[in-house]
Amino acid sequence: MDFDFTQEQRLLRDTVRDFAQQEVAPVAEELDREKRFPYEIVAKLGELGLMGIPFPEEYGGGGSDTLSYALAVEELTRVDSSVAITLAAHTSLGTMPIHLWGTDEQKREWLPELCSGRKLAAFGLTEPEAGSDAGNTRTRATLEDGEWTIDGAKQFITNAGTDISGCVTITAVTGESNGSREISNLIVPNGAPGYELGEPYRKMGWNASDTRPLTFDGCRVPESNLLGRRGDGFKQFMQILDGGRVGVAAMGVGLAQGALDEALAYAKERHAFGQPISSFQAIQGKIADLSAEIEAARLLTYKAALLKDRGEPFTLTAAQAKLKTGRLAVRATEEAVQIHGGYGYIEEYPVCRFYRDAKILTIGEGTDEVQQMVIARQLGC
Ligand code: CAA
Repeated sequence: MDFDFTQEQRLLRDTVRDFAQQEVAPVAEELDREKRFPYEIVAKLGELGLMGIPFPEEYGGGGSDTLSYALAVEELTRVDSSVAITLAAHTSLGTMPIHLWGTDEQKREWLPELCSGRKLAAFGLTEPEAGSDAGNTRTRATLEDGEWTIDGAKQFITNAGTDISGCVTITAVTGESNGSREISNLIVPNGAPGYELGEPYRKMGWNASDTRPLTFDGCRVPESNLLGRRGDGFKQFMQILDGGRVGVAAMGVGLAQGALDEALAYAKERHAFGQPISSFQAIQGKIADLSAEIEAARLLTYKAALLKDRGEPFTLTAAQAKLKTGRLAVRATEEAVQIHGGYGYIEEYPVCRFYRDAKILTIGEGTDEVQQMVIARQLGC
């Protein structure tokens, strides 16, 4: 086994680490408090070539791999989960379906703008009655006179309602075949008639990211906005979620690492009973356990990324990594708050925000219970 990064991967990780420390960390608390979307940061990520890491260079992407993408997500989450989920949802959920199944024309139309970060992509799978049961899509699309007419609703959608949102790729029922519902994917551009953005949610965390419900009320898009083969939509989106779960697992690793970074620095500085609290075994035990668990979770996440890059099956490993890292992030951020004592409960300290940001990692892109289902099925249950 090779545990080394390539020179490009190391360079990319270090670039993102510096950027996160210098440009993101100083404004993270303010963006969170003001629930303000990080437009300036997204523009800079675009300039650095980070908004299209795994996409071909001919379309303006970075021509890089999943592991590089995971490293970038990990480093950003170490300081700011809102910025990280904006990049992750844009890359592995919003843009990836166009890269994988788009026609040449669709790729030429969308990828250069999306890879540059001038426009953002969103992924519309979840509905009021189709969360974990993602196949229970109620949104319908009917084809008539060269246009799809879409009626329905999506919810908990990231990146759809910013000033730079370009499009959302959605699942919709497009007919019946062999007694079961035919689900297809469509690209819906922002501004399409009948496509309406709901108000942003008031969330527990990820406050600087854009999350809102969407409605489609007689929304019309051209027939050519079908993405991939008609009827392949559910399987396509399941495949997208496998890749998305590698990104979310990288978020779990990054957030847990960020919490440990803060806890360790604080423990060395804070004195009690005449000594730095890092000299107490109770604190050392927490720090040592977290560091061991983070390293294990990191390797599992990188393994999922490497399997994907090699073109090998990675559904099982991605689900294991997502399950492991989400829980770890919740535990690590809680321990980091505990080590900070009362200060950990105060918003000026990053661990307070980290604690609020962690919980969604056991829910978004498939709950822990869904990961357990996926893992058990992969193991033959
Ligand atoms: N890749 C390719 N195909 C797949 C697949 C995969 N990973 N998983 C399933 N399929 C295929 C199956 O082979 C099957 O094909 P056939 O009909 O030809 O046999 C078909 O899809 C149906 O599969 P299942 O019978 O397994 O489907 P199911 O209805 O039992 O559901 C599930 C399976 C795993 C529970 C799925 O519904 C699921 O993953 N649910 C969770 C959805 C989810 O993660 N939502 C999060 C949305 S995104 C988000 O959250 C964004 C954000 O936070 C920012």
